[in-house]
Amino acid sequence: MEYPVWVVPFLTAPMLIPLVAIPHVIVAQFAVGGGFLLADGVTWAYRHRRADILAYLRDLARFFVLLTIVFGAVTGVGIWWTIGLTAPESTSALIHVFVFGWATEWVVFVLEIVSAFAFYYLWDRLRPREHMAMGWIYAASAWLSLVLITGITSFMLTTGRWTPERDFFTAFFNPSFLPQVLIRTSGSLAIAALWIGVHLSFRAPEPLREEMVPRLSRWAMAGMALILVGGLGYFAVLPDHARLNMIRAPLLLIMTALNFGATLIALTAFGLGHLRGGRWINPPEALLMLLIGAVAITSGEFLREGARKPYRIEGYIFSPGVRVAEVPTLQRDGLIAHSPWLQRYLQENLGLPEEALRDPARLPEPLKVQVGEALYNYHCAACHALDGYNGMRPLIQPWTSEIIADAVRHLHRTNPAMPPWLGNEAEREALIAYLVTLQKGGP
Ligand code: HEC
Repeated sequence: MEYPVWVVPFLTAPMLIPLVAIPHVIVAQFAVGGGFLLADGVTWAYRHRRADILAYLRDLARFFVLLTIVFGAVTGVGIWWTIGLTAPESTSALIHVFVFGWATEWVVFVLEIVSAFAFYYLWDRLRPREHMAMGWIYAASAWLSLVLITGITSFMLTTGRWTPERDFFTAFFNPSFLPQVLIRTSGSLAIAALWIGVHLSFRAPEPLREEMVPRLSRWAMAGMALILVGGLGYFAVLPDHARLNMIRAPLLLIMTALNFGATLIALTAFGLGHLRGGRWINPPEALLMLLIGAVAITSGEFLREGARKPYRIEGYIFSPGVRVAEVPTLQRDGLIAHSPWLQRYLQENLGLPEEALRDPARLPEPLKVQVGEALYNYHCAACHALDGYNGMRPLIQPWTSEIIADAVRHLHRTNPAMPPWLGNEAEREALIAYLVTLQKGGP
């Protein structure tokens, strides 16, 4: 492990990622779906010479540009910070595998921002044809950036035929790429319709709401048809370990149920919007529907993240940040021998000379326990807080030290969401010594 670890109490470091990424996705998907809805809206308004609709859309575009560009850009950079600090080796791997993809994404992103600004700030100065074109250029570039990001995030769950020697395109067009593009595109249209529903409920007069809501609902329902196709494709290409996780882990089962439930409610609301228009949509209903859409996105993102264990990048990097190919070396030489930051920590904080680190099992008990604790932070803390998320203390509380030792020896068999043991025998003993001290009443 080439990087230091960041130990976050109660939550574990990787759980910081959804805290930033989920609000980002909820807004970023609005940025994509809203592009199509706005472009369609202005096209419709110009064709029918509807100044009232144009005036409303201008007001909407202001809210849209402010929210998606300011909040989207800030949280987008926030994601880079968070993944860089919590999962440096995977972030580095994604940068290396996808250099060309990131470069393309940044070009598309510039186009997205420029066209969004032109669409809003040049509202009166562009001729109708140019204005409509600007709206569609924005929509296309925002969607393209969704496609590019999806190629990269879907790779983490299904690497498919990719190996480190293979090219960019094998990684990009991985098995879950297409299903995820469908799911995200449709999710974008649906969440955008819900966001605009909120804006309409506050800012549009009733007759206009009456006209806009059925149109938005139809877009959203068309999108949701894609969710069905994408969702089936997605489950079909999930690796076995991911499917197993979803069945075994109670949290992931709850998330699946929430995801289906929220999606069904949203679909019903769009059906109502299509049939009955928008009179019933007042701020409380609209906000509630947006919240339900947010639940659907949140649960979907959790599923995608949770199903990946024990991998961060399927078949390539395990969750503690260790490459699968390195495991035999680590089991032979020890985790400490290949983790410069851990070595440094042990030498400076425990005053241990380098030779002692090669065989921590022979250290006196208190030192052995401290080495075990450091090993825990490197090997286990990415998935287990001591107390809190997947808490280690409550998990092992009822166990005897023999059961603990056995679980650590056969980590991957104890629960297939865990990687194999990533160190040598002596390190395993040190870790077990530490785990036993975590039990109430001590060893
Ligand atoms: C990739 C994530 C991950 C890593 C790394 C990881 N675990 Fe786990 N571990 C899990 C999950 C998920 C469970 C299932 C929790 C549950 O069932 O509530 C689990 C369960 C356990 C259990 C309870 C098993 C049971 O059958 O009840 C123990 C003990 C445990 N882990 C110890 C460890 C130790 C020690 C380490 C470090 C050497 C470690 N884990 C590293 C994800 C991980």
